[in-house]
Amino acid sequence: MPTYSEYLKIDELLELQRPLSDGPEHDEMLFIVIHQVYELWFKQVIHELDHLERLLARGEAHRARHTLGRVLNILKVMVGQLDILETMTPLEFLSFRDRLASGSGFQSYQFRELEAILGNKNPKALERYPAGSSARTRIEKRLAAPTIWDAFLHHLAAAGLEIPKADLTRDVTKRIEPSEGVRKALIAVYHTKPDLADLCERFVDLDEGVMEWRYRHVKMVQRTIGTKMGTGGSAGAEYLKTTLDQPLFQDLWTIRSEF
Ligand code: HEM
Repeated sequence: MPTYSEYLKIDELLELQRPLSDGPEHDEMLFIVIHQVYELWFKQVIHELDHLERLLARGEAHRARHTLGRVLNILKVMVGQLDILETMTPLEFLSFRDRLASGSGFQSYQFRELEAILGNKNPKALERYPAGSSARTRIEKRLAAPTIWDAFLHHLAAAGLEIPKADLTRDVTKRIEPSEGVRKALIAVYHTKPDLADLCERFVDLDEGVMEWRYRHVKMVQRTIGTKMGTGGSAGAEYLKTTLDQPLFQDLWTIRSEF
């Protein structure tokens, strides 16, 4: 039987935090650990969303609801973790920022995979990864695959809801477009199918949770680097602000003014 350390590869894990600054600067360790923890959570969320897709395809609404609940709890932890990074002052960050060179969360391929799974299909994301690299291949695969929303619409159709054929056979490489027919079906769900309506509400939680993370990330960026450019080469907070308030599942929000 493997020991705790053997099973969890603790020796290897603890070898992976390697500050680059001279000294090294005290806060660089926090910066590395936080980012690594985020990448692990991204990995877990992707794992859960792949599972969620299979559960929806099999019509297992109850277990789908459970899995979505787990994702939402992880998302809360991900938002909460920003509090820890916000204990780092602008000067503390500056003490090692130049060591990041062009490194930035911008380049997180798991984040781009996650966006694609959730329906934010943006082929421009590929430009940051060399052709043939494993990161690029992973994102390409996600861009070509149906989103979690597509899985949900098929689930609703299988449960007897009238989802327009055009939405069920849409080009899944594109962003999800608002659909009047889907909104009609969703309104029917809220009026007649409490279990499915509950699942819809969890999708709204997911959408809101992602937007909350983006908002908190921008605020953290503003308090840490103000209006400076990002290490990834973007306009920094100005760029990040353009990603706010962009719901993934627009129809779920629109129906609120149509009830
Ligand atoms: C002091 C801490 C941080 C600062 C100053 C910061 C700054 C920035 C900036 C300026 C950008 C815009 C792209 C660019 O670099 O030009 C960005 C993007 C991003 N950051 Fe951070 N970040 C911080 C921490 C984090 C953490 C802990 C994560 C978690 C993984 C993260 C994930 C991301 C992601 C995923 C993007 C891409 C967002 C998008 O394109 O929609 N960042 N960050």
